[in-house]
Amino acid sequence: MKIPFFDYPRLFLDKKDEYLNVFSEVSSRGAFIMQKDVEDFEKNLSQFVSSNYSIGVANATDGLEISWMALNLRQGDEVICSAHTMLATASSIKVAGGNPIPVEIGDDNLIDPDAIEASITSRTVGIMPTQLNGRTCDMERIMEIANKYKLFVVEDAAQALGSKFKGKNAGTFGNASAISFFPAKVLGCFGDAGAILCQDENIFDRAYQLHDHGRDKDGNVKSWGRNSRLDNLQAAILNFNLKSYETIIQRRREIASRYDSRLSVLDELKLPESPKKNSDHFDVFQNYEIVAQRRNGLQKYLKDNGIGTLIQWGGKAIHQWEHLGFNLHLPKSEAFFKECIMIPMNMFISNDDIDYICEKIIDFYRK
Ligand SMILES: Cc1ncc(COP(=O)(O)O)c(C=O)c1O
Repeated sequence: MKIPFFDYPRLFLDKKDEYLNVFSEVSSRGAFIMQKDVEDFEKNLSQFVSSNYSIGVANATDGLEISWMALNLRQGDEVICSAHTMLATASSIKVAGGNPIPVEIGDDNLIDPDAIEASITSRTVGIMPTQLNGRTCDMERIMEIANKYKLFVVEDAAQALGSKFKGKNAGTFGNASAISFFPAKVLGCFGDAGAILCQDENIFDRAYQLHDHGRDKDGNVKSWGRNSRLDNLQAAILNFNLKSYETIIQRRREIASRYDSRLSVLDELKLPESPKKNSDHFDVFQNYEIVAQRRNGLQKYLKDNGIGTLIQWGGKAIHQWEHLGFNLHLPKSEAFFKECIMIPMNMFISNDDIDYICEKIIDFYRK
């Protein structure tokens, strides 16, 4: 049996005719840049997550950078982020002129609110929680801290479209946020794409200008800017895929439950919280990341049995990349990266696949 970690060709092939129709329809209209498909997608996205504003951008990394630029981040400003996140979180702060300050994760492997509060200095201007693996942080606590110290919040919601905390969508708590539509994301397209969400008209105006050469919606140049527009063809694909998004989330939650019911017999593993009806968290399971004793051996055993896995972000926390110049020791995050591993979580795996994966994981620990 062969179960790749993510089957990229199937992303297209499973609905080939429908996608070719979308390509054909959009291309025949000659609608390539900033056309109605982008506008429709921004409206659909805003509606889906209950956001006042959405701006389609070229990718989430740009979206995060533009968010900080729209908030006028200045040289030397510190922004607290998680040590367990993608480089893009920290680099967006750096590129916008600030200094990222990675802090420890909590028991749920998301940024630890206590660590945020303990790291605030006179230079801190913002907090950047990552809504990781399709789970939203305890945003009540984080917003309390932000309000208490008058800090900006930009959410890295790249992995969290549709995820909620206490009924409110990831990406709609802070001053701004960005979502990624990288192909392997829960809502993916056929290349790079992203969106900024924000709730305030002034931030929207600034971010909108920054993403389109400093121009406002009427084409008047209001400031310096750049080109980070969402490709119109990708927007059309996203509009199409968004229609099945609820079904996709439901299936991902079913997969997580099935993993949980089979793997929770193993003391050697720490699993993500299983989906529950009455939880503060509504998780969309962008990834199923587990903490596994003898992780490297497990990865090899699964590979030998045809099962693809992934260790996130090259197996290091942000501050562990020596060329980035951090001089930090964060024991909990470092310990996490010695044992974390992601097993397949996507729309292409069947219940039989899940059972096979679980059987092989159990074999590894029991043999
Ligand atoms: C947590 C996180 N932040 C930011 C990004 C960057 O997104 P993009 O590839 O759309 O720039 C990703 C993408 O994988 C991500 O997982």
